[in-house]
Amino acid sequence: MLKLTVLLLVFGCAAAQIYNVCIPRSNPDLCRTLNRDGQAACLEVESRIDCAIKLARGEADFGVFNEEETLLLGQQQPNDNRVVATVRDVARTEPVAFEAVAVVPNSHTNGLAGLSGYNYCHPGLDQQDLRWSPRVLKAFENAAAALTQCSSDQPVPAGATLEEWEVERLQQFFPKGCRPGPWSYNATIDADLKRRFPNLCSLCDGSNTGNCNGYNLTTLSVSVAGVNNNNRHIQALECLRVNNNNTVAYAAWAHVREFFQFRNPDVATSYAALCPDGSTVTLTMELLRSPTAPCAFVRQPWSTIVAAQSKAAEIQGSLRSWWPEGGNPGSGGWQGTLFNGIVGGANARVFFEDTLPSPLNYTSAIRPIPSIDATSTCQPARRWCTVSSAEHTKCTWVRTAAYSLGIQPTIACLQRAHTFQCLDDIKEGRADFIASSSNYGYLARDHYNLSPVKLVQNARSDATRIAAFVRESSAQNNISRFENLREARACFPEFGGIAYVSFVRVAHERGVIAQSGCDYTRVVGEFFSGACAPGATDATHSLSNSNFNASKLCEVCKPASGIVVNDPNPFTCSWDYTNMYFGSNGSISCLANNDADIAFVRLAQVKGAQLTAMGLQESQFRALCRNNTLAATTGVNVDDGCLLSLVVDAEVVTRRNDELRNALSVLLETLDQFFGYNAETQSQHINLAIFSPFDDVKDLLFKDSAIGFTEPSSWNSNEIARNSVELFQHLESCNSAPGTLAGAHGLFSFGTMVLLGLLARFVIY
Ligand SMILES: *[C@@H]1O[C@H](CO)[C@@H](O)[C@H](O)[C@H]1NC(C)=O
Ligand SMILES: *[C@@H]1O[C@H](CO)[C@@H](O)[C@H](O)[C@H]1NC(C)=O
Ligand SMILES: *[C@@H]1O[C@H](CO)[C@@H](O)[C@H](O)[C@H]1NC(C)=O
Ligand SMILES: *[C@@H]1O[C@H](CO)[C@@H](O)[C@H](O)[C@H]1NC(C)=O
Ligand SMILES: *[C@@H]1O[C@H](CO)[C@@H](O)[C@H](O)[C@H]1NC(C)=O
Ligand SMILES: *[C@@H]1O[C@H](CO)[C@@H](O)[C@H](O)[C@H]1NC(C)=O
Repeated sequence: MLKLTVLLLVFGCAAAQIYNVCIPRSNPDLCRTLNRDGQAACLEVESRIDCAIKLARGEADFGVFNEEETLLLGQQQPNDNRVVATVRDVARTEPVAFEAVAVVPNSHTNGLAGLSGYNYCHPGLDQQDLRWSPRVLKAFENAAAALTQCSSDQPVPAGATLEEWEVERLQQFFPKGCRPGPWSYNATIDADLKRRFPNLCSLCDGSNTGNCNGYNLTTLSVSVAGVNNNNRHIQALECLRVNNNNTVAYAAWAHVREFFQFRNPDVATSYAALCPDGSTVTLTMELLRSPTAPCAFVRQPWSTIVAAQSKAAEIQGSLRSWWPEGGNPGSGGWQGTLFNGIVGGANARVFFEDTLPSPLNYTSAIRPIPSIDATSTCQPARRWCTVSSAEHTKCTWVRTAAYSLGIQPTIACLQRAHTFQCLDDIKEGRADFIASSSNYGYLARDHYNLSPVKLVQNARSDATRIAAFVRESSAQNNISRFENLREARACFPEFGGIAYVSFVRVAHERGVIAQSGCDYTRVVGEFFSGACAPGATDATHSLSNSNFNASKLCEVCKPASGIVVNDPNPFTCSWDYTNMYFGSNGSISCLANNDADIAFVRLAQVKGAQLTAMGLQESQFRALCRNNTLAATTGVNVDDGCLLSLVVDAEVVTRRNDELRNALSVLLETLDQFFGYNAETQSQHINLAIFSPFDDVKDLLFKDSAIGFTEPSSWNSNEIARNSVELFQHLESCNSAPGTLAGAHGLFSFGTMVLLGLLARFVIY
């Protein structure tokens, strides 16, 4: 009896088997339909890469991956999942999505080396047709002109970008050509390269003075059925035809067929496909009728449906029953909805892969990609420092994805215990960059001698806002200006942090600390009678050129309740929550507990619920504004004009004057282009989002609030970016020649006092 029940249960479960299919967010209609009556249930994922990770863990059952994503899975998860089907076009059932071929005059001899001195006709680095990645776009020229082979006597010159070096060598090999589109994702660098190497644009039109926006060939004015004259591959082939001998065109086989079958059948046999091994194959009509090329520089696998390994066979069986013809069954049922939702429209066809290959087995048979670790590059990898294993995993996917797409220089990922270890490793040349909180902006510059290569942009609402608060009772009584704070007690979230240095700047501006006071440990320590600035005595936080005993800046700190201390008068200066007054919430509670007269905080961390959680009320506090007046009302909703600082939330830092700064800068712009918000999800080569949660973990590599990069320049048109630059410029420009440190003995000179008095009278009001 029991056995029968178990059997029934098992059978019951099998009949009701529901598979979790990955659906990228924002497709609620599809999910409603599926969840109502389908045998597939929506598993919403942040990105298709998240889907791959969930498949490998068995949390998801199947999902669809485009061509480049399938290649990436082959490298990053070579054996984890199984390809159950490929997704093709009803009119294009050949085994590969495209083949990239080189076409030369039939008279060509001497293989790839024989191309030296030829004209070069390229469809363009900006061309979207067939979704060619940079690796595909450059595969032929890299093979022909040996651009990826660097020798020690000919490395990329210091300070140059790889693009520059690439174009220079390319023009040595192909003296003339048309290679449209951006040669760098940085518009300034691109324009500079186009100006310096104009010959690689000279065949873009008949007049030999082409700009590089595309082709403008008058000979293509007549249209022919079956050929799209606006297609860049067709244009590159026409460039080959009109320039006749000593010209090579790089194009997709499908377009080569159109061009020679329909547009120029009479001359087809005067041309040949040039194979990677140097042999040539004449373009006969018979050859041109074949959907597969005789040889190719790149052959691209199709998009795939990938399933978790343990269920792959079972899922393939189900898919076969849902979509028996490989297309939309068209019955109006959920099977059709699912097909349309994940596979495609009326022209899409699913081809089941009987052998259920792993992603690596499927892709490497078509397009082997050398392992990233076995590939030598012309520029050393830029080493990204990470601080957790989740972050490291995201970095590794970004690294492999970028490599797979052909983005250069390559990335390496190094995991360290915390940000300061990263900053130190970057300083010492053991790592190259990290997106670091602007909270550590000054420490990064001063203690670690780094500087920003990019600022990380946020929405205005996510910027860092620093404000100073006093208790409302003091505001009504004895503290209404920064001058009143001399010999008072202060709480800072962290020593050397953004709130701390924001105070230093305001104190300089208001003249309560002399302009020449450049030892920022001493000036704060001597201005206040005591403070809590967590980290002040820690070597990770020490500021340069200070001989001030920083333990004065810890006198107000207290161990958090629950932290057992035996000492009746415990001293703590730790920069974590074992210190009760660490962080902005700690700083405000320090003020509320009457342990200090002023607290400096980052606003986002003391608002609303956080304040309530600490049992505090907004009416207890009033902001002291940067212009030295009290805010008109109490509370932590402070207007931007009152803030001590309004700056970006993070910045990517690297060593000052590093030879590869430019290369890193361009790399970041390129990553933004492919994996940031600049990438349209529909046309994105690999659906990986650097500014979004990864595998359900927030704030990895960048805060999720990041939206892009901007320049660390005082000319930046963005006010918040400019504020950041100005704050750190102010702090760094302090004249800190030894011996002139203000208040070397804690006193202003008499002259300074008089001057400050005058300033206070005439300037500050
Ligand atoms: C482009 O590169 C130039 C030169 O390296 C740099 O000054 C500029 O800030 C970059 N522009 C952008 C938008 O990144
Ligand atoms: C992948 O290919 C290897 C070598 O040909 C073979 O041993 C292995 O069984 C294949 N794996 C799958 C899942 O197809
Ligand atoms: C302000 O007045 C209070 C109460 O009289 C006193 O405890 C505190 O030390 C004063 N603070 C300053 C900065 O003068
Ligand atoms: C700094 O001051 C503290 C407290 O006054 C004292 O215990 C400590 O020894 C001093 N440190 C140095 C390096 O002088
Ligand atoms: C501040 O927030 C942290 C983490 O959210 C918490 O651990 C800590 O106890 C808080 N501090 C205070 C003083 O409330
Ligand atoms: C100081 O700044 C506050 C906040 O922006 C503003 O309301 C106030 O008018 C300013 N006061 C003076 C004197 O400029």
